[in-house]
Amino acid sequence: MHKLIAALTLTFTLATSTTALAASAQPAKPDDGAWRAKMQALYSSLQELLAITVDPVKFNDPSQARAIETHARGLVQAAHAMAATPSASPDLDPSIRLFSGILEEQSAQALQAYKLGSREYARTLFNSTASQCIACHSRTDAGVRMDWKLESGPASRLPLQYQAQILAAGRAYDPALEKLTTVLTDPATAPAFAKEKPFEWNQALRTALILAVRAERNPSRAASILESAMKTEGVPQFVKWDSRDWLRTLRAWEQEIKSGQDPASSKSLKTESGYHREALRLISVAQKAQRFPMDRSADMLYLRASAVLHEQLGRFPQGPKSAEAFFLLGVCYEILRDFDLWTLGDTYFEACIHRSPHTPLSESCYRKLEESILAGYTGSAGTRVPVEIEGKLQRLRLEAQSSTAMPDKVR
Ligand code: HEC
Repeated sequence: MHKLIAALTLTFTLATSTTALAASAQPAKPDDGAWRAKMQALYSSLQELLAITVDPVKFNDPSQARAIETHARGLVQAAHAMAATPSASPDLDPSIRLFSGILEEQSAQALQAYKLGSREYARTLFNSTASQCIACHSRTDAGVRMDWKLESGPASRLPLQYQAQILAAGRAYDPALEKLTTVLTDPATAPAFAKEKPFEWNQALRTALILAVRAERNPSRAASILESAMKTEGVPQFVKWDSRDWLRTLRAWEQEIKSGQDPASSKSLKTESGYHREALRLISVAQKAQRFPMDRSADMLYLRASAVLHEQLGRFPQGPKSAEAFFLLGVCYEILRDFDLWTLGDTYFEACIHRSPHTPLSESCYRKLEESILAGYTGSAGTRVPVEIEGKLQRLRLEAQSSTAMPDKVR
């Protein structure tokens, strides 16, 4: 992977002089009233739905079936409308279409599983809906902040970590971070939560970090939450180990900001090439920090790099560096899959192939995609890729194939 970044840095250097002019044009923002109304509707469907699905007793009560289906269908329809008209978004990042596609697909899958009687699977999918909203909203630190309170209404009696998820999904970042801090650090409740529900505890920590690092671009807040969370008794060891590296990179970032050396925080990135160069810098630091390819120790750097890339795409959605931005986002999200962003990496590799077909870059994207899909379908009985996925891979391979093949060693 290191070689690949080196190869991209090289393309970058060669291309800079010719792309600088094209990169400075910015399309206009569409009116966002209708979009915001759609989002408010999503927020209320999400609250109503989670108020039922989080509680296993309510969820399995037959009298709730109609309400579950109604709210779940509401989510699917709103996500579909978003995916079908991404140009209605006030944000020009082409990722809007990709993220809304994932929300649509996952809500449809949850609804179908529920109707077919796979109840526990459906419940897990419903309960993770908020992370799709959070992932899209927290791409960068731009956009509205809400100040919702959940003191009344259907979600007000849910466990704190779900209230925090809902608040975060509704862009109420500050209230969400306050609740998450309590969940992760309150000496009266946090140790039992960490011990009895280590995965939920871990998810709460990751939500807090994604908000502080990307939506707030605030390493001091991320570091202080992480530091106090690690003092909680019963924290799983795997999280403890990763957190040492995370803390170190967050503190280093804090220093960069203080000394005016973080161009993203000081808003001094102006051109598409500037963003591209900064993202490459962060990813190469991240790759050097990792001890093995899927190691999580550099997650804070990948989160930071992904925010830079999203900002680049928001400002230069059709720029000459956009296909490479898709590729680099694929690289980031492949590693960040534990942040509930499971399939995003593959989504970006595919987008990269469509954006820049028949080039050495699309071949690299195809390689990463194929590798990830084959790994996903590999189990103890070997690799079994469903026929329709094989067909899709074949179509993408043809689209990616470049006439001037890239040497194998540059991966
Ligand atoms: C594909 C990306 C995407 C997804 C997925 C998404 N949103 Fe949004 N949302 C946006 C954008 C873009 C805005 C406008 C941000 C701005 O101010 O520029 C927004 C704004 C909002 C707002 C603020 C509305 C206002 O009045 O200003 C709420 C509330 C909201 N979203 C809720 C949700 C919920 C709940 C979900 C999940 C069920 C969700 N969103 C999923 C992109 C997304």
